[in-house]
Amino acid sequence: MSEQVIWQTQSPEETHLLGERLGQWLKEQDQPMAIILIGNLGAGKTQLSQGIGQGFGIQGTMTSPTFAIVNTYEVDGQFLYHFDLYRLEEEEELENIGFYELTERGKSIIEWGNKFPKALPEEALVLTIEIMDEKTRRFMVTSPIFKMDELKVLGGSYVYRH
Ligand SMILES: Nc1ncnc2c1ncn2[C@@H]1O[C@H](COP(=O)(O)OP(=O)(O)O)[C@@H](O)[C@H]1O
Ligand SMILES: [Mg+2]
Repeated sequence: MSEQVIWQTQSPEETHLLGERLGQWLKEQDQPMAIILIGNLGAGKTQLSQGIGQGFGIQGTMTSPTFAIVNTYEVDGQFLYHFDLYRLEEEEELENIGFYELTERGKSIIEWGNKFPKALPEEALVLTIEIMDEKTRRFMVTSPIFKMDELKVLGGSYVYRH
């Protein structure tokens, strides 16, 4: 069981800014890495993903991969794969969309990763987003490879305090 850190935002703008932090961090990682997003409709997955894209250096708006399943971006020779697994029904379909090759090759955002938990890469941050109230979102952060202290530093001012 990995340790857990909690981040919290109080507005869509804060979630976007948190995403930008994560996107910069993701781009700097020198190995393949995924940010896995779990949360119901309206949790803020799209808000966060757009911030991640901006922090990564993507110009313009990122479109939702709900129908494409995966959108590919390239910045300074680095690839960012944005997956949405919502519409996949069978784990075998992941092979058809190149999920394993792509996540082992580059950086990725994986929405609805909880549909196929066994298929997810180990090199990842797992963010489970909870809606606390109209404007408050809590991000339960775990990782098979990062320590709690590292996840606290990464969250910066968004680390939740009682
Ligand atoms: N702290 C917050 N973070 C993110 N979104 C928020 C927050 N507070 C309110 N919202 C609202 O919640 C909704 C999140 O939508 P979206 O990012 O599309 O969610 P998802 O992609 O998970 O379905 C938006 O309407 C946004 O304005
Ligand atoms: Mg969405």
